[in-house]
Amino acid sequence: MTTAKSIEQRFSLSGRVALVTGGARGIGEMIAQGLLCAGARVYITSRKQEDLDQKVAELSQSGECIGLLADVSSSEGINALVASFAEREQQLDILINNAGKTWGAPLETFPESAWDDVMTINVKAPFLLIQALLPSMRQGATPEQPRHIVNIGSVAGIVKDGIRAYSYQASKAAIHHLTGILAKELVKDHINVNAIVPGSFPSKMTAGITRTEEQKSALQSTIPMGRMGEPDDIANLAIYICSSTYMTGAVVPIDGGAVLGNTIGYESFWGG
Ligand SMILES: NC(=O)c1ccc[n+]([C@@H]2O[C@H](COP(=O)([O-])OP(=O)(O)OC[C@H]3O[C@@H](n4cnc5c(N)ncnc54)[C@H](OP(=O)(O)O)[C@@H]3O)[C@@H](O)[C@H]2O)c1
Repeated sequence: MTTAKSIEQRFSLSGRVALVTGGARGIGEMIAQGLLCAGARVYITSRKQEDLDQKVAELSQSGECIGLLADVSSSEGINALVASFAEREQQLDILINNAGKTWGAPLETFPESAWDDVMTINVKAPFLLIQALLPSMRQGATPEQPRHIVNIGSVAGIVKDGIRAYSYQASKAAIHHLTGILAKELVKDHINVNAIVPGSFPSKMTAGITRTEEQKSALQSTIPMGRMGEPDDIANLAIYICSSTYMTGAVVPIDGGAVLGNTIGYESFWGG
């Protein structure tokens, strides 16, 4: 028999501290807003001070939001982010590894640099950030109040469609796999590690493939539910994962059934 609990008691993130990389736009912003509405204090990062200031002002209407300037493309950038977080907080409850990059080009001309850049931002940076933040996540974690690492993967890391984003697709499959490896290792520390696997959501990353109405409807027609994701779709899943105590190592699609359709619905991401 379950105890009667209010929605607030079940899903509240009140008193929790969250860090969302790339939280100033796109999917990161959608998740940051969800966590704020659930009561968390949310740190968002951006490489651009102006974007950060503007987004912090907007998101602060939903709760306590703090901006941190950060570039995660180097270990120096990651260490600087961790240092500025540590100046403000001793403990981190929720880490959302959202910052990401893509590149598309034909097989014959796909540049080597697109392997270095994409794998660095999408795989190496989440790993280094987790490594550097472990002490502040381990602190005070209990089975009743575990810490949460949520890596943002992609349907592109599951479906084998050739969208000519070779390093991107491989990087997302890698982050899904890394999620399980870290979940297994960190379960003893009461740190739950899960991955959210978005289908198609409107953002700067998908703007190029949804520019015209024709492109948009071509993409939507390949999604079993016939539409792209909306902010609440992904925010609600993030709130659920971050308020749950019994879930780790899960790689969870939120995609309108795109994985079932086994197609991504566009030919390529051209450029980054
Ligand atoms: N949109 C989709 O349909 C979709 C589908 C599946 C997965 N995803 C994943 O969702 C995540 C967010 O993507 P999005 O769609 O919201 O695209 P987006 O609008 O292009 O966002 C990319 C984010 O990554 C950050 N970022 C990029 N390089 C960075 C760096 N060197 N250091 C720090 N931050 C960096 C950007 O921050 P600043 O530019 O502000 O610094 C921005 O917030 C990515 O991991 C992406 O692969 C998206």
